[in-house]
Amino acid sequence: MAMTKQLNMKPRDIASQIIENLPHKITEIMEPPSVAGPGFINLRFKSSYLSSAVRSMSLDPVRCSVPLTPSPHRIVVDYSSPNIAKEMHVGHLRSTIIGHTVANLLQFQGHDVVRLNHVGDWGTQFGMLVEHLKDTKPEVVEDGGDVDVGELVVVYKQAKKRFDEDDEFKNRAREGVVKLQGGDEESIKVWKKLCEKSSEEYGEIYSTLGITGLTERGESFYNPYLPSVVSDLLSSGLACESEGATVIWTSGVKDEGTPLLIRKSDGGYNYATTDLAAIRQRASVEKAKRIVYVTDSGQGKHFEGVFKAARDAGWLGECLVEHVGFGLVQGEDGKKFATRSGDTVKLKDLLNEAVERTEKDMKERKGGEELGEGEKETARIVGIGAVKYADLCLNRESNYKFSYSRMLSLQGNTAPYMLYARTRVCSIVRKAQGLTDDDTMVWPTPGGNVVLEEREEIELARHAVKFGDVVDQVGRDLYPNVLCDYLFELSQKFSAFYETCPVTQAPSEEVRESRLALAVVTNNVLVRGMDILGIEVVERM
Ligand code: ARG
Repeated sequence: MAMTKQLNMKPRDIASQIIENLPHKITEIMEPPSVAGPGFINLRFKSSYLSSAVRSMSLDPVRCSVPLTPSPHRIVVDYSSPNIAKEMHVGHLRSTIIGHTVANLLQFQGHDVVRLNHVGDWGTQFGMLVEHLKDTKPEVVEDGGDVDVGELVVVYKQAKKRFDEDDEFKNRAREGVVKLQGGDEESIKVWKKLCEKSSEEYGEIYSTLGITGLTERGESFYNPYLPSVVSDLLSSGLACESEGATVIWTSGVKDEGTPLLIRKSDGGYNYATTDLAAIRQRASVEKAKRIVYVTDSGQGKHFEGVFKAARDAGWLGECLVEHVGFGLVQGEDGKKFATRSGDTVKLKDLLNEAVERTEKDMKERKGGEELGEGEKETARIVGIGAVKYADLCLNRESNYKFSYSRMLSLQGNTAPYMLYARTRVCSIVRKAQGLTDDDTMVWPTPGGNVVLEEREEIELARHAVKFGDVVDQVGRDLYPNVLCDYLFELSQKFSAFYETCPVTQAPSEEVRESRLALAVVTNNVLVRGMDILGIEVVERM
């Protein structure tokens, strides 16, 4: 219908022409299409196609019939990226959860994914931190003594206070940066210790979240390349001097818009310089064909500037660069997310609380009986899964109100619901095989034809076979909520199917086998989908 004007034809006529020219790939699997209403084209899967597609999916638990991409390439996903000696906050949690899913999905498609943790481990604040530690913890310099991880945030606050109040210290801190960047041995020793300790701290969060495969490549990695980045941009005429600083007018016009600052008037480099060095390195050395940055939407302008400059400088070639932005995490009241006393919430506490609340819910459902080891493990999976799913199931660009009660609810589009729905599939399959809920799960290999007669069977099958399209869509647009919605709908369609189509009591052996195949497909897709979302599954809850 949108083409009416362009083609100067009636929509129904355009529709007829489209139908006549449909590729074989489509006509093979679809009933003959028809034109409807003002110019819609109705396409319906042939039931023979649906049956055979469901059958193949039931036999392919790993890929669920999703083909590997015909054009695999290297993709860098930059995510998590907390800052050394500062608290890893809920924004970093979002970046970690969303980035991990994006990376998993692209990898599932068959791409060569490089997961980079662009840790904030460089910059002027380290002059202040290092000098302060030299005073307060001389043992770190002398014999490699330790800094307590819990102390880091306190150290940061103390150092900042001194920096703000004491002019002499301020000068020392400034000189400290120069010393550190110049490779002074003592300074490097203290700085390394700081990085190590911070890294231990967020390493704990990663292990709680099951984040693996993330390579730490902090800002310091790009330090050696900063001078040449700036000089190259200057000599190509993209950058220029402005009030003593070096800037890029990304609008292309001098004094128009806000420039991208790449060297401060004191000669220091900044966040943007590092990102320029990083993007060049990723495109030219890593040979990435796509680079994805997962940070809060507030950094959108920064990345716009960096992308534009890198593109204009000719560093990107065919490489696609994208900023995957996300909204703020807020408290249930829509205000800043904080503890009751107004402090920032520690991520460790946040994750622990989700698990503890799940344990409490489970205990209540058992009439107050203590949980066994297996059940505690289930509570861990459900609690952590709930935090992740709550973040992923919303359009990432919207702000997200953090609510334990909502994310842990067994009703609605939540992890507990999804995990529970999957345990029901397990239980149905067990029953159909004459096993009890306490028996170990044995997944059958369904044989025979898949017969789709009831409306609910057809609906479930139609939805299940869309999995590959959904994976493609998320791989293209990078909105994980589309996958969540799809999985949620799958479990709802499964419920409807199960209510009207008994498996164990099926009218014939053939129908029973066929329904079993539908259950197996539902399981396969749910498990694979949750795996992409970074969520573990359970067999009973
Ligand atoms: N460390 C930054 C922050 O906490 C995020 C870094 C994101 N990645 C990048 N290449 N700039 O906001």
